[in-house]
Amino acid sequence: MSEADTESRARRDEIWIEKYRPETLDDIVGQETITERLKSYVARNDLPHLMFSGQAGIGKTTSAQAIARELYGEDWQEHFLELNASDQRGIDVVRDRIKNFARSSFGGSNYRIIFLDEADSLTSDAQSALRRTMEEFSNNVRFILSCNYSSQIIDPIQSRCAVFRFSPLSDDAVEEQVRIIAENEDIEVTDDGVDALVYAASGDMRKAINGLQAAAVTGEVVDEDAVYAITSTARPEEIKEMVTEALEGDFLAAKATLDELLTDEGIAGGDVIDQLHRSVWEFDLDDRAAVKLLDRIGEADYRITEGANERIQLEALLASLALDD
Ligand SMILES: Nc1ncnc2c1ncn2[C@@H]1O[C@H](COP(=O)(O)OP(=O)(O)OP(=O)(O)O)[C@@H](O)[C@H]1O
Ligand SMILES: [Mg+2]
Repeated sequence: MSEADTESRARRDEIWIEKYRPETLDDIVGQETITERLKSYVARNDLPHLMFSGQAGIGKTTSAQAIARELYGEDWQEHFLELNASDQRGIDVVRDRIKNFARSSFGGSNYRIIFLDEADSLTSDAQSALRRTMEEFSNNVRFILSCNYSSQIIDPIQSRCAVFRFSPLSDDAVEEQVRIIAENEDIEVTDDGVDALVYAASGDMRKAINGLQAAAVTGEVVDEDAVYAITSTARPEEIKEMVTEALEGDFLAAKATLDELLTDEGIAGGDVIDQLHRSVWEFDLDDRAAVKLLDRIGEADYRITEGANERIQLEALLASLALDD
């Protein structure tokens, strides 16, 4: 094995989502409106408390770290404390660490940053306590709260933060990043492989990059088949087939297709629902059928979230499509 080969092997052991995590706000893709505003805070060295909300893998943690890098340079980690609000040891541990970090700050005109991940996992009592902590230490620290759902954060905290809603990344943004990484890692990816990664990721850059790395492990060309197998995602055609069968009144065929997805391919029922939801408008349904399908998706999604059996809910959805006209 040549030296170059050994080196590229070694590189493949790294986790790509970390290796390719953008270091500056300028390098973050697809969130330009947000990063422009964040850059102006940095330029003025005047950071309010911030709240980042949005789905997983779209740049919230990355943006917080980039702000710290730009404000503090090389030794940014000394001025940046990353905590997870859902810390198993409890909110008291989180609060103690916040207090210790805030107290040890230098005061004066300068401040440090506390990045609190999964802030929406805090109970409203814990959030009230957090709000007092934010006030108590606002001379020394700025908080960046990160959450998936901003509606889970109490108003008094939201009103103390500049709120930024991160969007799911566009397919183009995901595709571009996937191609850059593949080229850099010397991975051969087919066009349908890229499309499949983008589809499976559904706006989540972490998922796309992890999918690429997992599919590339075999050393073979990364194509559609490799991607769908590794990401437990149904092919859009399979979803379409299942819905069409149900709408044509052939419940048994639809159920067989569903079984294939859930049992043979090991796809989670909740993911099938998500994929259904994303594809409704790509099925060529007439408006009435599309609306009915959406209505049933909403119902099944809610019930599954509330703990209902996924398979039963999906079968019931197909049954209701198959039943009437
Ligand atoms: N906008 C982006 N531009 C470039 N790369 C990105 C972007 N968003 C995410 N990534 C890639 O995905 C990885 C995970 O992103 P990040 O940690 O910022 O997600 P997050 O939004 O904080 O998600 P979570 O809600 O799960 O914490 C990054 O290390 C980076 O490789
Ligand atoms: Mg994060």
